[in-house]
Amino acid sequence: MQSKESDIGAVAWRELNPEPYKFKAVEPISPGTEEHRRRAIEEAGYNTFLLRSEDVFIDLLTDSGTTAMSDRQWAHMMRGDEAYAGSRSFSFMERVIQELFGFRHVIPTHQGRGAENLLSTILIRPGHYIPGNMYFTTTRVHQERNGGTFVDVIIDEAHDPAAAHPFKGNVDLDKLESLVRRVGAENIPYMSLAVTVNMAGGQPVSMQNMRAVHELCRSHGIPVFVDAARCVENAYFIQQREPGYQDRPVRDILREMMSYADGCWMSAKKDALVNIGGFVAVNDDHLAQKLRELVVVFEGMPTYGGMAGRDMEALARGLLESTEDSYVRHRVGQVEYLGELLRRRGVPIVEPVGGHAVYLDAKRFLPHLPQDVFPAQALAAALYIVSGVRSMERGIVSAGRNPETGEHHRPNLELVRLTIPRRVYTSRHMQVVAEAAARLYEARDGITGLEMVYEPPTLRFFTARFRPLGRWRL
Ligand code: F0G
Repeated sequence: MQSKESDIGAVAWRELNPEPYKFKAVEPISPGTEEHRRRAIEEAGYNTFLLRSEDVFIDLLTDSGTTAMSDRQWAHMMRGDEAYAGSRSFSFMERVIQELFGFRHVIPTHQGRGAENLLSTILIRPGHYIPGNMYFTTTRVHQERNGGTFVDVIIDEAHDPAAAHPFKGNVDLDKLESLVRRVGAENIPYMSLAVTVNMAGGQPVSMQNMRAVHELCRSHGIPVFVDAARCVENAYFIQQREPGYQDRPVRDILREMMSYADGCWMSAKKDALVNIGGFVAVNDDHLAQKLRELVVVFEGMPTYGGMAGRDMEALARGLLESTEDSYVRHRVGQVEYLGELLRRRGVPIVEPVGGHAVYLDAKRFLPHLPQDVFPAQALAAALYIVSGVRSMERGIVSAGRNPETGEHHRPNLELVRLTIPRRVYTSRHMQVVAEAAARLYEARDGITGLEMVYEPPTLRFFTARFRPLGRWRL
């Protein structure tokens, strides 16, 4: 709807995309000195995961569990029902999830990987294949732990950081169909469909693609489970980019998305605007019963699953807030704003910019470094040294090794993720980040790469340690 030109508030709201909130509590931050940061990254083995947060200025490590909660969420927390069984807070959360997602059964977990553990343990047997639109670290580990093999069926464009496509998270139906033909539907326990796709750069899946995946899978009797960590951001992209959805509220779009799935799991630490929590939601009564049987082994009673009553209150309230159009419009808009600043300075990033992060393309940023010297890991460390901005490697270190051959997985995408926490930083902070990355880009020749000196057996990116090859001139 077009606002009157004399309504300056409405015009500015539309054109400037200001924060749709104001601050009620703040946490001081400062960059410290470069000398201090050099020491800190050295002690952290050149791994930004191992830095102390007090040594960080602007923390873009992750959008997971780093949200600022609203006054209403805090108010709800005071009403948390901490009963061991049958908590009122669980009933509230269950009702909100049932209404927003449309699934009948809700099983709470402490976070996303708790949910992945339950689903993978129940559904996967040795020899199974699990198709997915690009791997995610924890998701794949749980599939492999249960004897399954992950198979990437995302469209080719997703592996090309420069390819323009409005829905780069889409599944390639031919890849999916040929997997079914090759291994047989009976060896595919489910299709794992992430919305949005984290490792591809926060790229969305279109409604049309979700519908088509659902139809193809149904024709083979394969259930579809959605990784809903960033499903609200995905719904917003559908509203903005897919014909026919412009006038539909994000909440309606989300509900339609989920109608093409048999269930979903969610790390609530992302789009549910909370610091901890997760759940699995499904329609199938038998599967729900199995999930409730297993949740008590790993997480807790089926009415809390590793969360406190107050956490479930905050989660339910958070989902209601994040599915408001004004919230998600600003959220995705802020990420795009950072992308635009970097684009203007000529810094190579993944295009189009996704929903939760801007990804620096380390291959183009540091073209002189081969993948064996961990360019993205080095770039994340260098960005921290020059500015105190903490980011995360999403390249060869995150990809880990093939469990059978022991070789590095060599992903085409060698990226550094600048992940924007929700409702935490302002556009001025985004300017600082863009300035830091642009200046580092000018000094890129001074970065000579890293050597890995400690490698843990799984999810190595969390705790691996590195040493610089030669002296960096930044
Ligand atoms: N699925 C996706 C797409 C995720 O991004 C994550 C976590 C998980 C599942 C696991 O959820 O952390 O609650 O156990 N991503 C975080 C990140 C760690 O930084 O991207 P969790």
